[in-house]
Amino acid sequence: MAKPLKLNIKNTQLAGMLKVKPPAVKKPKEEPAATAAAESVVKKKARIMKDPSAVTKPVVAEEVPAVVEPVIIPEPEPVLPPPVPEARPAQQAQPQPKPQQSPASPAAAPRAYAPAPAGPKPAAKELRLPKKAEERRFDARDRQGLRDIDNEAWRKRRQHKPLKRSFQEEPIIRPKELSVRLPITVKDLAQEMKLKASQLIAKLFMKGVTITLNDFLDDETTIQLLGHDFDCEITIDTSEEQRLRITGNSIKQEISGTTTDELVLRPPVVAFMGHVDHGKTSLIDSIRKSNRVAGEAGAITQHIGAFKVETAAGNVTILDTPGHEAFSEMRSRGATVTDIVILVIAGDEGIRAQTEEAMRQAREASVPILVALNKCDKPGFDAQKVYRELADRELLPEAWGGTTITVNCSATTGQGIKELLEMVALQAEVLELRANPKARARGTVLESEMHKGLGAVATVLVQNGTLRKNDALVFGSHFGRVKTMQDEYGVSIETAGPSTPVKITGLSDLALAGSEFIVVKNEKEARELAADRAEGALRSAQMQAKISSLEKMMAKKESGEMKILPLILRADVQGSLEALKTSLLKIHSKKVRLEIVNAGVGEISESDIELAAASKSAIVGFHTHIESRAGDLIKEKKISVISHDVIYHVIDEVKLRMKALLDKLEQENEVGKAEVKTIFKSSQLGLIAGCQVAEGVIKRGSLVRQVRGKQIIWKGKIASLKRMKEDVKEVKEGFECGILLEGQSDVKEGDIFQTYDITYLEQDL
Ligand code: GTP
Ligand code: MG
Repeated sequence: MAKPLKLNIKNTQLAGMLKVKPPAVKKPKEEPAATAAAESVVKKKARIMKDPSAVTKPVVAEEVPAVVEPVIIPEPEPVLPPPVPEARPAQQAQPQPKPQQSPASPAAAPRAYAPAPAGPKPAAKELRLPKKAEERRFDARDRQGLRDIDNEAWRKRRQHKPLKRSFQEEPIIRPKELSVRLPITVKDLAQEMKLKASQLIAKLFMKGVTITLNDFLDDETTIQLLGHDFDCEITIDTSEEQRLRITGNSIKQEISGTTTDELVLRPPVVAFMGHVDHGKTSLIDSIRKSNRVAGEAGAITQHIGAFKVETAAGNVTILDTPGHEAFSEMRSRGATVTDIVILVIAGDEGIRAQTEEAMRQAREASVPILVALNKCDKPGFDAQKVYRELADRELLPEAWGGTTITVNCSATTGQGIKELLEMVALQAEVLELRANPKARARGTVLESEMHKGLGAVATVLVQNGTLRKNDALVFGSHFGRVKTMQDEYGVSIETAGPSTPVKITGLSDLALAGSEFIVVKNEKEARELAADRAEGALRSAQMQAKISSLEKMMAKKESGEMKILPLILRADVQGSLEALKTSLLKIHSKKVRLEIVNAGVGEISESDIELAAASKSAIVGFHTHIESRAGDLIKEKKISVISHDVIYHVIDEVKLRMKALLDKLEQENEVGKAEVKTIFKSSQLGLIAGCQVAEGVIKRGSLVRQVRGKQIIWKGKIASLKRMKEDVKEVKEGFECGILLEGQSDVKEGDIFQTYDITYLEQDL
């Protein structure tokens, strides 16, 4: 192979030899140069890494042609001192290093060039300095990541932002400890905790509590847990509650906190409890030498009775409680205010439902039980059987080695009554029942009623202190000033010491049976306290309103097409009303719902009738009367009134009314069956089915089902029934007959006619 020749000749010589024009040496503004510049822009980044001057040249040539020359001069070194990062001298060289015009800002450079496009070299140099700083050499410091000066702008922003944020957060100083009053709205609690309400709502939602901004929170634990979640110790401020309660101590605590020389022995309060008709009232009558039983409607006790009795064994305050199941609340009230419960058990019957309930209530109130085995005069009396029943219920009788005192007695013969009272005195001695007669009076409302002339009247039991005429007192959200005070015989008295039951008047409103009364300094204070209590009660009611409306909505949803029986209730006293309401609401039905439109104590008045007419309700009166003027209005407005003196009569009648609301159920009773054997055509009547009666009787005019195969194809009436061309009323089993159906012409051989009648049945509740 021939080796290639190496020619040592210049381009001009070669051109002369080849007789062509030599190439132009320098033409900077030619097309190829511009193309090269464009290419160099594309590869800008890579070139900066190698030689910054190489990049500067084409960019400037393209953007600002007038400063091409100075940019090309590669003299950055004398300006930048070697050991210091390049950007620093660049900053020094620039007299106004405003952040907007910083060398790192790409927008700043062209603006700086604009005023002097064709300026002298030094000016151009000065102007290029920021650019120079930006496009400095990539040296070892860059490689090791030690240079941070070019990130100045970024660093500034980063430093600025957290500063800004901390400035915003700083003013929110959340309390570490808080004291709040209950109930409190979510909004208010959030405000106190310096939080957004949405934060509390979200937290509660996570705990499964769905609540909105204006809802009340009343649960201490929930609030404290919420506080814990947000690092805040919340305590509940009960000072206002205590002010309204007047004292934080219970009656027992108050007595035990009194010095012994101020305390005196008081009579025991003894409640007679037990099953209906076991002889409670009879025993009390026997002790008091009274005859209350004779005056009772339906021969059952329906009111709580309180009496002070002087016996050979000392004074005793007796409470008579009803045994009928409807009066559970009354019994429970009896158990809570009493010192000793006498559980009356008829020896011939033994323990019954309400005996058990009374036992439970006495235990709940931590009251000692003394058992009276009554009706020992009766032939069926079996003490051993009752002992066994008592032993089964953890009340082992003394006779069997236990601690429960039992006394066999008879209200009729008086046997064992003395012994029973001695046992009561003994028990009272053990209990050491004392009270301070000098203290302000405090006790419990046993019963209350609205008297026509006297207004609200309450039977109260003084449990500590002495109640005097003109004393100002607070009970529930009401107040009063004792105007008159009477004992159980209606005798007016001036003072009532501990363990005394009295009837008082001068009250602002009906007292809630079971509520506590307490004497305060004067009527003004009583009035204020009652108003504040009422306000608190209103707040709680508002809180409950949402829940109950929700419940009502749910109930409505569940009840669907349920019938509603609206009722207005009226009873003589508060306790009876409560018992009536509870008993009525206990009536279980999936088809009819009772709706108590209004309930109150007193006579059935004209306004009750107006309300009944407006709400289409029936009025239920228990142990009460109709106002004389209201009688005519009842007739005029056609209002239905259910009025009884015995509670179970009321309940039975209400049940009947509920049943009456239900549609009657249709019941089809099979009467006969006939099979079509042949079809006759009658020009006048149409198709007549010639049948044979297969079962029962076929009657003219009776209801009929036409069955073909297994399907009922028609239902209607038999229009005509013939036997031997004679119209007949009925045809019995085995006989043939001609049947004409009313309005049905599709009859075929083999069809079955089933005749039936319908009875309408009442539905159960
Ligand atoms: P409620 O108050 O309705 O729970 O009934 P109660 O426990 O008060 O019974 P009450 O005293 O009304 O007596 C009911 C019935 O038992 C009456 O008919 C009394 O005559 C009768 N009875 C009560 N004690 C005795 C008794 O010791 N011997 C006999 N043979 N009958 C008695
Ligand atoms: Mg009774």
